[in-house]
Amino acid sequence: MRSLIDITDFSVDELWDLLHTACDISENPDKYAQKCSGKKLATLFFEPSTRTRLSFEAAMLELGGNVIGFSEASSSSAAKGESIADTAKIISCYADIMAMRHPKEGAPYVASLNATVPVINAGDGGHCHPTQTLADLLTIYRENGRLDNLTIGCCGDLKYGRTVHSLLAAMSRYSGIKVLLISPKELRLPGYIKHDVLEKYNMEYLETESLEDAIGSLDILYMTRIQQERFDSRDEYERLKDSYVLTTEKMRSAKDTMRVLHPLPRVNEISVKVDDDPRAAYFRQALNGKYMRMALILKLLENKEPSKKTNDEILVDENLLCDNPRCITSVEQELEHKFKVTDAAKGLCRCIYCETKKVFQI
Ligand code: CP
Repeated sequence: MRSLIDITDFSVDELWDLLHTACDISENPDKYAQKCSGKKLATLFFEPSTRTRLSFEAAMLELGGNVIGFSEASSSSAAKGESIADTAKIISCYADIMAMRHPKEGAPYVASLNATVPVINAGDGGHCHPTQTLADLLTIYRENGRLDNLTIGCCGDLKYGRTVHSLLAAMSRYSGIKVLLISPKELRLPGYIKHDVLEKYNMEYLETESLEDAIGSLDILYMTRIQQERFDSRDEYERLKDSYVLTTEKMRSAKDTMRVLHPLPRVNEISVKVDDDPRAAYFRQALNGKYMRMALILKLLENKEPSKKTNDEILVDENLLCDNPRCITSVEQELEHKFKVTDAAKGLCRCIYCETKKVFQI
């Protein structure tokens, strides 16, 4: 049984398979209309969503399956204190596959450790959002005709924008990718992603605060919303919320072949006037998300292989605790704090749930 927690759970070949299946679904929907007959998808959304939840539900219905679930934590037994582990065990009794969104980082991973059916991470806090990346990959492939040799500008909230984190992890596996990280200094990409993704895979990258300076060189401009709900300080959000607004005037400096992507929802970071520009691909991207989620559901339901085991050295020490307030361990007291050793010589490790870096005594 396979789950999708992080985009790198799938190999490049598996991603190609998903892309090709999604294209075939969009061209031949009738062929797939009964593929999931008799199967149930559970959508467990502990955080608001329009696209992800409803595209998952549309995906399962268009495959001939059924959908159960909830769209807010308050209408589930999480409101009475039920743990993620127990929730996953219970849902495994009722559904063949589940998609979970949760504000705490690592929650879908905890679910996958306890479920007996595939679990899909539909977004966990500021950590990652692999099914958005599937939508992004299909959009890039269809709009730009390739997944390699691209200059990608990621603009906005790169600190909390989980879609950017997953997209960069995916793009690290293709050649000739250059990345421009366009953000205010307070919202720069987390160091662990620069280190573990961009630097590890020798991706060329540059950090800048100027969208105007960057836009002319881009093949893809990936705009993001400033993630109000992740800020500790309201004042800080108010100060940064209008950092970038893409306008028709700024689009004049972009290449004719550049495409604008946005995971949506947008607040005001793209002027509605840009929607009429044929280079604005974000509504097509949302449709692509449904096709990729259909392909993903098929793959996970058909795949009987166990999840791939890693050889990571795991560290458990009662004195070593994850201190990320957004980690699932911050609210689930029974959960054992575990760390993956990343550099034994330097005493570095990362929380297995949220990837926060820790130093341990050698
Ligand atoms: N892109 C995305 O995750 O949108 P929703 O929050 O509406 O699901």
